[in-house]
Amino acid sequence: MLKIRKITELAHHYLQLSVREGDRVIDATAGNGIDTLFLAGIVGKSGHVFAFDIQSEALAATEKKLTENHLKDRVTLINDGHEKLDLYVRDQVAAVIYNLGYLPGGNKGKTTEHETTISSLGKALRLLKNEGLAVLVLYPGHGEGKTEKGQLIKYCGRLSPREYNVLHLRLVNQPNEPPELLVIQRNLFSRTADA
Ligand SMILES: C[S@@+](CC[C@H](N)C(=O)[O-])C[C@H]1O[C@@H](n2cnc3c(N)ncnc32)[C@H](O)[C@@H]1O
Repeated sequence: MLKIRKITELAHHYLQLSVREGDRVIDATAGNGIDTLFLAGIVGKSGHVFAFDIQSEALAATEKKLTENHLKDRVTLINDGHEKLDLYVRDQVAAVIYNLGYLPGGNKGKTTEHETTISSLGKALRLLKNEGLAVLVLYPGHGEGKTEKGQLIKYCGRLSPREYNVLHLRLVNQPNEPPELLVIQRNLFSRTADA
């Protein structure tokens, strides 16, 4: 049963609905590798995951999970900022996930920041294939997370409604500013298809 209070489960739900075997996808914030492992499972043997993180310990944790699950060969681990993703990924992708903030149990100073997140998202959106998804888990409960959420919502509000649809999901009855979800879908042919 899907628990809507678990925003990361909702993020996976949307990815599961849109990613197919053989697809290329991006995990923009590998962290402890939960999302990378999930994506490696759904892209199958013929698909591929590009996973970014600025912290080598995060990528080591991700690699360990992948190795334990015999899925390492489906993933390229990239120890660099996702704002440089265009240097590593050139082909179209079916999905990208950003699980923002800092590594749970790690250095809170190494959090994602709105300028680099938005720069990266702009590049990722241009790589999305038709009906591809960008899924972002936001954490407004900490200082930079609140700013990042505000800036991302502003950025999304300015995306062309012909090319993108943006869904914002948040729990309205929970205390302490719980995580929220943005789901962006690219529609490359909406002008003709919806006419
Ligand atoms: C909330 S954690 C990600 C959790 C992860 N997706 C999981 O499944 O365990 C956020 C991660 O983003 C990373 N990060 C921060 N700034 C980054 C950047 N510019 N590019 C790539 N990763 C970044 C942090 O090092 C941290 O590991």
